[in-house]
Amino acid sequence: MRVIITAGPTYEPLDPVRFLGNRSTGKMGYALAAAFAAAGAQVDLISGPSALPAPAHPAVQLTRVETAAEMYAAAAAGAPAADVWVFAAAVADYRPAHVAAEKIKKAGDTLTLELVKNVDIAATLGHTKRAEQFAVGFALETTNELAHAQEKLHRKNFDLVVLNSLRDAGAGFGHDTNKVSVLDRAGQVVTFELMAKTDLAGELVRLVLVRRAAVIT
Ligand code: CTP
Ligand code: CA
Repeated sequence: MRVIITAGPTYEPLDPVRFLGNRSTGKMGYALAAAFAAAGAQVDLISGPSALPAPAHPAVQLTRVETAAEMYAAAAAGAPAADVWVFAAAVADYRPAHVAAEKIKKAGDTLTLELVKNVDIAATLGHTKRAEQFAVGFALETTNELAHAQEKLHRKNFDLVVLNSLRDAGAGFGHDTNKVSVLDRAGQVVTFELMAKTDLAGELVRLVLVRRAAVIT
């Protein structure tokens, strides 16, 4: 089994010294890479800037990228040959329209940046997914969580979507623990307790293996 995983944030440059980014650390994606490798998979881990060390398992191949465009290029190259796609990255939705060649100097009292939309990696690849391929996405919502997650699952052609809870202390960005619910195409919901991201990764791998077997047979 070949698995491709996007992880971490993306950094979108503004000038040679500044970027737009987000608080993702990559912990969930890296834990999933380790868990899939432990389950016997060959893993292609495509990571935005992260302080985490490369997973030690020899079956994990790490590709480091910075921007959403670079992450898309790496994911698009690996996706056709992968059996399972996991989109765990917190991809910047927009990037600066212009990247200044020199450091932007402080001038007026306000500064307006023009941003343009980035490629949606999951949605774009989702439309190329073959029947035997299996896609897992993540969603972080603060209102109408289940409905929004379900909408993303269909729009991006996921087989499962992992809904991150922000309501629970200890869940989400930067934490070692996470609390999630997993939705499938039939609208069925599996809810997990708050647990270590490494443990949750093992549970998610188990769930993917079971569901994928059901899809294939
Ligand atoms: N995703 C992606 N490429 C993007 C944006 C999101 O691959 N440019 C993936 C994420 O990795 C995640 C899923 O799509 O698996 C949902 O990301 P999310 O940010 O929740 O969804 P958006 O479609 O960007 O919607 P919004 O941020 O407006 O809620
Ligand atoms: Ca987004």
